[in-house]
Amino acid sequence: MSDETVTIRDNSTGKEVTVPLYTPTAGPKVIDIGSVYKELGYFTYDPGFMSTASCSSAITFLDGGEGVLQYRGYPIEQLAENSSYLEVCYLLLNDRLPQKDELDDFINTVTRHTMLHEAMIRFYQGFRRDAHPMAIMVGCVGALSAFYHDHMDIHNPEHRMITAFRLIAKMPTIAALSYRHANGKPFVYPRNALNYTENFLHMMFSMPTEEYTPNPLLAKALDLIMILHADHEQNASTSTVRLAGSSDANPFAAVASGIAALWGPAHGGANEAVVRMLIDINRSGKPLQDFVDRAKDKNDPFRLMGFGHRVYKNYDPRAKLIREICHQLLNDMEATDEQQKLLDTAMALEKVALEDEYFVERNLYPNVDFYSGIIFLAMGIPMNMFTVIFAMARTIGWITQWSEMMSDETSKIGRPRQLYNGAIDLKYVPIDQR
Ligand code: SDX
Repeated sequence: MSDETVTIRDNSTGKEVTVPLYTPTAGPKVIDIGSVYKELGYFTYDPGFMSTASCSSAITFLDGGEGVLQYRGYPIEQLAENSSYLEVCYLLLNDRLPQKDELDDFINTVTRHTMLHEAMIRFYQGFRRDAHPMAIMVGCVGALSAFYHDHMDIHNPEHRMITAFRLIAKMPTIAALSYRHANGKPFVYPRNALNYTENFLHMMFSMPTEEYTPNPLLAKALDLIMILHADHEQNASTSTVRLAGSSDANPFAAVASGIAALWGPAHGGANEAVVRMLIDINRSGKPLQDFVDRAKDKNDPFRLMGFGHRVYKNYDPRAKLIREICHQLLNDMEATDEQQKLLDTAMALEKVALEDEYFVERNLYPNVDFYSGIIFLAMGIPMNMFTVIFAMARTIGWITQWSEMMSDETSKIGRPRQLYNGAIDLKYVPIDQR
């Protein structure tokens, strides 16, 4: 924080208020408007939070103009190249990279928390077979608060760390069971001998009737994709977790609210929407420009899914890395014709859009969701599971941001105000006189 200030002047009354201007370690300076209502009697107004910092945080830094993403100060490109998802979980939670023995202990603890209470498994039987796996995940993660509530003190750092371990460990089990239930397959329990992503593939695809060995290429690609999705500053779902958690709500319930927010196609649901869009484009046989023109037409609700971002006004650094994984995996896996066609259409659509003035002047580039769905398809993961995997990966971000908020003595319950423009002071009219 610094001792610089900004003066806000009310030109209608001449009244002025001088407020602090904070200098972060990186990124734009921040005007502290906390006293504006008290001093000027006015609320500030910023629907969608286009210019509003909701908190201070030391977890993830984004520079939208430069396409920079760093977790605890480490550039995403270096972590993608050298780290693993569980090491990134350790880094995000502990604000430093682990020693070898610390990482081994961390992995060992996660491995031993992957099971669900048997009563939880029966919870799945209540869902229809055609229930969307995100609907099941919202319900099941929220239901974890029924198992871990009474003896949990959210103001105790050790309890917060146990909660983090439980969520990191159980999300793949919950996710895989959603898929098994939806497909009428028997539930598969985790195997401690497998690593984190191998275990997920095992729970998703193994059958009790035969041996199953997870494909190491797929497990590695999934681990890399999970690193890229782990955290992303104060995005919609993380802000939802913070707001829910700010009332001291149960963290499992708060994370369930984040899963609900992520599900939207404007947010994490975009990866499923991208592949559905690419399939529609391929089936239509129409030129790509037709779809780009529709995306530009204000009278047409169609948007190019996987394009644009509130923060990145340059290429999303994660999209660049995922595109490389996509190429590599489809090459190694000898992609099916349909998968290759989807990738070819995605690459061609990207080229057409990035040469179109409308997209260029609005800085609309492919984002993290543009290519990830194609990789998930190549892994044999069905479209309605794509956002479930995003939620699995983002769980560490949600619980780290929640924990940072809960450990901040100054944090308060989030309670925004409004610009009210409805009716006022009406007189009730009895029904027989209306
Ligand atoms: C994620 O916040 C995060 O960090 C999210 C995320 C994370 O890791 O948590 O990065 C994950 O959610 C990525 C985004 C996935 N969503 C999509 O791909 C859906 C398609 N994208 C758009 O819905 C949109 O770009 C958003 C929601 C991502 C961003 O919306 P903004 O910042 O509110 O921007 P906007 O809607 O105000 O758009 C600005 C202009 C508008 O045109 P004008 O009014 O200026 O004429 O750009 C246009 C928009 O119409 N525009 C698009 C477009 N995205 C924006 N036009 C066509 N196609 C698009 N995809």
